[in-house]
Amino acid sequence: MSGEISLIGSVILALFLAGYLGQQYLPPPKARVIGLDLGTTFCSVGIFQAGSGEVEVIADEQGRLSIPSTVAFTDTAVLVGHEAADVADSHPENTIYDAKRFIGKIFEPEALEQESARYPFKVVSNNGSAEFVVNANGSFAVTPEFIGSRLLLKMKKMAERRLGLPIKMAVMSVPAEFDERQRNYTVRAAQLAGLEVLRVINEPTAAAMAYGLHKVDVFNVLVVDLGGGTLDVSLLNKQGAMFLTRAMAGNNKLGGQDFSQRLLQFTSERVQQEFGVPPTLKEDIHSLRQAVEAAKINLTLHPSVTIRVPLHLQTQEGSAAAAPAAPAPVLFHTVITRQLFEELNEDLFQKILAPVETVLAEGNLQKEDVDEIVLVGGSTRIPRIRRLISEFFGKEPNTSVDPDLAVVTGVAIQAGIMGGSWPLQVSAIEIPNRHLRKTNFS
Ligand SMILES: *[C@@H]1O[C@H](CO)[C@@H](O)[C@H](O)[C@H]1NC(C)=O
Ligand SMILES: *[C@@H]1O[C@H](CO)[C@@H](O)[C@H](O)[C@H]1NC(C)=O
Ligand SMILES: *[C@@H]1O[C@H](CO)[C@@H](O)[C@H](O)[C@H]1NC(C)=O
Ligand SMILES: *[C@@H]1O[C@H](CO)[C@@H](O)[C@H](O)[C@H]1NC(C)=O
Ligand SMILES: *[C@@H]1O[C@H](CO)[C@@H](O)[C@H](O)[C@H]1NC(C)=O
Repeated sequence: MSGEISLIGSVILALFLAGYLGQQYLPPPKARVIGLDLGTTFCSVGIFQAGSGEVEVIADEQGRLSIPSTVAFTDTAVLVGHEAADVADSHPENTIYDAKRFIGKIFEPEALEQESARYPFKVVSNNGSAEFVVNANGSFAVTPEFIGSRLLLKMKKMAERRLGLPIKMAVMSVPAEFDERQRNYTVRAAQLAGLEVLRVINEPTAAAMAYGLHKVDVFNVLVVDLGGGTLDVSLLNKQGAMFLTRAMAGNNKLGGQDFSQRLLQFTSERVQQEFGVPPTLKEDIHSLRQAVEAAKINLTLHPSVTIRVPLHLQTQEGSAAAAPAAPAPVLFHTVITRQLFEELNEDLFQKILAPVETVLAEGNLQKEDVDEIVLVGGSTRIPRIRRLISEFFGKEPNTSVDPDLAVVTGVAIQAGIMGGSWPLQVSAIEIPNRHLRKTNFS
């Protein structure tokens, strides 16, 4: 009798152990839904890892976590991402970037002519929709959603290579200001890449989710997204498990490029002081631009940086003479301190606060009412900008997630939720906002 009981006991124990070990050692289910951030200048793809509950942003063959949103057409191939950016200088008229600025939008023909003048490639109107004219193995027009589809296909393949599985489903993010038509055309781009889009979420909502704000008790979230060329400020309300975009404002002519431009201007003046001539050769300006861009990034971590740039200045005697003198090679070097960088840009940095004040006013909120501040976009790494925002609100913003990957991280979390990944997360649903207008300062 007691032997029987102990036998049953052993069987139960064995079953229990097997279950326990199974749970411990069976691999968790692989992600089947990917999260896509199709940005204006860079894009990324992420997956939510069931089990660890962490997001993995997927790297390309060279280990890079973002690819340029660029597609180039040559006589023999369609190049995507870094490969396309690499040929941009040699094939400028067939290298398309910024397609997101055109997707799903209806333009007046004159507006498109103006846009076309800003780019090395040709933008034409097809009954109000933008198309890019490409001359490679014949002349043809491609749509912004086709450009988007090549980028999304590349990211789909990166995810498939990483997971060893075919991927058919995705969650995507779009700017909060996108209307229904722009959202539809973004979804169409994904369909052209063979992906079914399970949900489209707003970029600021994705950034808030990257910080887990869908799971904690917060009400008002302010998202500041400062990229290379644009500033977007959004005020979100969380009601239960739902995010509502309450107000939006921005400046579509303010970003990292402007801060670099001020540094370029300063260094050019220094060259003029030191050598008596300003840098005028294209290659010299290009080298200086690269040096100040690197210096700007370095100044985020270091109090000062020394730049050394070989230049081939055209001497004044040369330009006065009938035949220009041979360029004189010189080595220009100068020290740039963080303080100098901040002084050169202080008026631009102050402009960040105008849209912040606007969204607070439109939301009828005092700055004390903001529960969390989320920073997105590479330029929010600049220490002075972080200080400006924390001083304005009297509290620290959320900065622990890489500001270039916050959106893709949030989209991947939403993809994990849609894919039913274990452990279950609290979902955030977005309340669509059809009649919200964005205030622009510029
Ligand atoms: C170039 O165009 C021709 C005619 O349209 C086509 O048959 C050929 O496949 C094209 N080549 C490439 C590399 O796309
Ligand atoms: C052009 O667009 C208008 C309105 O968007 C539409 O009514 C018209 O049918 C379109 N024409 C063509 C040729 O597609
Ligand atoms: C967007 O797509 C939906 C579903 O396909 C459709 O019902 C709606 O009319 C579209 N809206 C616009 C503005 O294109
Ligand atoms: C940037 O900082 C690193 C140290 O973190 C240094 O090695 C590098 O030389 C710096 N770059 C420039 C352009 O000064
Ligand atoms: C950032 O977000 C988390 C919520 O995930 C919160 O607990 C934290 O206090 C926030 N603030 C800062 C400054 O990190």
